[in-house]
Amino acid sequence: MTDDERFSLLVSVMGANSVLPVRDPRIPPGVGMSAGYTPGVPRLGVPALRSTDGSLGITNPGYRPTDKGATALPASIVVGASFNPVLARESGALLGREARIRGFNMVLGGGINLQRDPRNGRNFEYYSEDPLLSAVLGAEAVNGTQGEAVISTLKHYSLNCNETNRHWLDAIIDPAAHRESDLLAFQIAIERSQPGSIMTAYNKVNGEYASGNSLLLNDILKGAWGYKGWAMSDWGATVSWDFALSGLDQESGAQIDDILWKAEPFTGPLREAYANGKLPRERLSDMVRRILASSYTIGIDRWGPAPKVDMAKHNDLALEVARQGIVVLKNDGLLPLPADTNAKIAVIGGHAQEGVPTGTGSSAVVPEGGYAAVVKIGGPGPMGIGRNLFLLPTSPFAELKKLLPNARIYFDPGQSPAEAALLALRSDVVIVFGIRVEGEGFDLPDLSLPWGQDAVISAVAAANSKTIVVLETGNPVRMPWHDKVRAVVQAWYPGQAGGQAIAETLTGSLNPSGRLPLTFPAGLAQTPRPRLSGLGTPWGTPTTIRYNEGAEVGYRWFAKERAKPLYAFGHGLSYTHFVHENLAVRGGETVTATFTVTNSGAREGADVPQLYLIDAAGDKRMRLIGFDRVVLKPGESKRVTLSADPRLLARFDEKVGRWRIVAGRYRVALGMSAEDLRLHAEVALATRVFGT
Ligand code: GLC
Repeated sequence: MTDDERFSLLVSVMGANSVLPVRDPRIPPGVGMSAGYTPGVPRLGVPALRSTDGSLGITNPGYRPTDKGATALPASIVVGASFNPVLARESGALLGREARIRGFNMVLGGGINLQRDPRNGRNFEYYSEDPLLSAVLGAEAVNGTQGEAVISTLKHYSLNCNETNRHWLDAIIDPAAHRESDLLAFQIAIERSQPGSIMTAYNKVNGEYASGNSLLLNDILKGAWGYKGWAMSDWGATVSWDFALSGLDQESGAQIDDILWKAEPFTGPLREAYANGKLPRERLSDMVRRILASSYTIGIDRWGPAPKVDMAKHNDLALEVARQGIVVLKNDGLLPLPADTNAKIAVIGGHAQEGVPTGTGSSAVVPEGGYAAVVKIGGPGPMGIGRNLFLLPTSPFAELKKLLPNARIYFDPGQSPAEAALLALRSDVVIVFGIRVEGEGFDLPDLSLPWGQDAVISAVAAANSKTIVVLETGNPVRMPWHDKVRAVVQAWYPGQAGGQAIAETLTGSLNPSGRLPLTFPAGLAQTPRPRLSGLGTPWGTPTTIRYNEGAEVGYRWFAKERAKPLYAFGHGLSYTHFVHENLAVRGGETVTATFTVTNSGAREGADVPQLYLIDAAGDKRMRLIGFDRVVLKPGESKRVTLSADPRLLARFDEKVGRWRIVAGRYRVALGMSAEDLRLHAEVALATRVFGT
């Protein structure tokens, strides 16, 4: 390759879209618009790289006016709540197929940042607060996409756990704790999926931009972990050419760097650095080799005709993810509603007549046929332009009418507590929706529902004791009306078939099996940062967030603080009952537990038994070390065996760069959630220093 050809691989440019309407001249005519374009080297058969977002479907923020729309999957947090790696893999494969028919050979998916903060506007795009669950699901999503010969990413490396001033945010964390939490999620996910590329985060980590953080990129990702793919920046996250010396291999969305940093560092400045010897030739070769290695390993050069896409089957998958990820948080027996009921049912709020909400930002997917409605919301910064209430065309109200043919179902928009209460008063049952628009570029100011919805919920609960709340949010919410309602269902952003899944859950035509992938705190006072530094400051204000909880994220924090959350990680109700028995554990290199799960109820259902470390040689720390999703018929039992990744039992010794299990007794608990722990056992482990 000539040097010009080498350098051409190191930059991607963004296609023209509603935010950047001018087509970059570096994108040849005839090339479809998308998140990123990098020219190939035709004379050598090196394919161009054409990347598209994202985790929840193939996005189109104005890139392709004639695109008919893509499958709008439920948010990643819904896959998280399913605890089902198979769904993650099938979703990844769907992304690969829908990318290929558009000619895109890279999907910018695999968001596995930990949901450290319930205000993080992008938590809907991530799987969980837990590193193991995030890693297992993120890896399967990558495997699904790459199985279609489409490159996938894991993102955003690392500690991109808040959106507040993200380009000027310094995320501070103890390095060893970082290895035991967010970095462990990446480490396990990379081992299980070999993603073609790792996308670096916007923020700094301990003072160094993630995209130019030599400790993260050279020492850990490429050194300790031996990663062979390439590190690409996020769009507008390459601040300087010397990020190449710190391990960054490719600048993404170069035009945004120009806007933010007044330069495209990997074009002019990097070439100058090379000309004056500051960029060594072998580093340039390494950058190129990594991109080529992933391209050829995954096979984007060996494409035949794109496999046909069955959009009806893809819709079925979107439905199945929603079915398995909806979580019944509270139910005093009012649910499920009998299918033959002739009751008068009020359906209130949440635009439930129209559709279901989804998250905003780069992951927003335009469904086939377009949205049911788009309500402008706006806000500061570049992401404010796309901050809208997007309603996917799947109506919970319409779906309920299908499943309850004898019921008399009325809709009220929930625009005023008094008006909603009037309908509630003359109904037998009330289903009231609470929604909140969350998205990239914004952290939530608190955990409240907006638009006065809490007052509407309280008013209808006061008017009718048989009130069911359905939440469609990307994060936990506070529930001031909690004790006045009979049932609470967390439906998240349930995707293009979410209305049907919600109706099926409420009427019992499906047995809910979702479990919380993140803790629902009773309030921000219970969280490590009741006040979030930088929140509400003008976009562009340098901000520092200290993640002093370290590796004790979510349920781990609640265990350490001995605090009782509103709803625990792993919690979720079923319409049947399960029993866990005969827990046996054995030691050795790790802890292996075997136990029996039985469906002791009257209908088929899925249980998600969770195995936790609760005491490591006297150190009372909690770690999810295993889980399974087990489908059982009434009376059926299954013996389950789970083996812990030993790093979850260990501490990371920063001084020697190794994992250390100290000798002693390791106590584990098997539970239905992080606080509902029913069986305990312990086993002795010997001291062991291992891994990197
Ligand atoms: C965005 C996101 C990233 C996305 C990229 C391309 O700002 O942070 O997740 O893949 O830019 O749209």
